[in-house]
Amino acid sequence: MRVSAGVDIVSVPRMREALARFGDRLTGRLFTLGERRYCSSRPDPALHYAARFAAKEAVRKAVGHTMAWRDVEVVRLADGKPVVELPGTNLSLSLAHDGDYAVAFCIASEGGGGAGGGEGDI
Ligand SMILES: CC(C)(COP(=O)(O)OP(=O)(O)OC[C@H]1O[C@@H](n2cnc3c(N)ncnc32)[C@H](O)[C@@H]1OP(=O)(O)O)[C@@H](O)C(=O)NCCC(=O)NCCS
Repeated sequence: MRVSAGVDIVSVPRMREALARFGDRLTGRLFTLGERRYCSSRPDPALHYAARFAAKEAVRKAVGHTMAWRDVEVVRLADGKPVVELPGTNLSLSLAHDGDYAVAFCIASEGGGGAGGGEGDI
């Protein structure tokens, strides 16, 4: 099985400034409707937008190629755990935010079983 990790950190004050400056134009371009609904329902939306932006970057790093911002959607399960889906890839995501920073860590795995043995396989 091929496993790859991606991580990203985002400045919450920078996200807050960008939201104040560009508002719906920014959120509509970067985030899905579900993400916007969740973030805007929170007392400090910038924290959650920053975490989701970090998540999109972490997913890109983990899968090794770019995709449209809104193709990567962070969905919350009933217990609050964030998940993200991308066809053909198993992704595991974790988010955290505290004060000025939000971080996201993603693990992508592909394949499994079989002979394998290529470079980077474990
Ligand atoms: C889940 C929990 C650990 C989050 O910790 P926190 O210090 O409050 O907040 P953090 O900044 O570290 O993380 C926040 C992110 O955690 C994620 N999260 C929330 N619930 C989660 C869960 N059940 N599992 C995994 N991740 C979760 C969310 O993505 C959240 O960000 P979001 O609101 O923007 O989506 C906390 O709410 C908690 O203590 N819950 C109950 C007790 C528990 O289960 N503790 C874990 C013991 S190992």
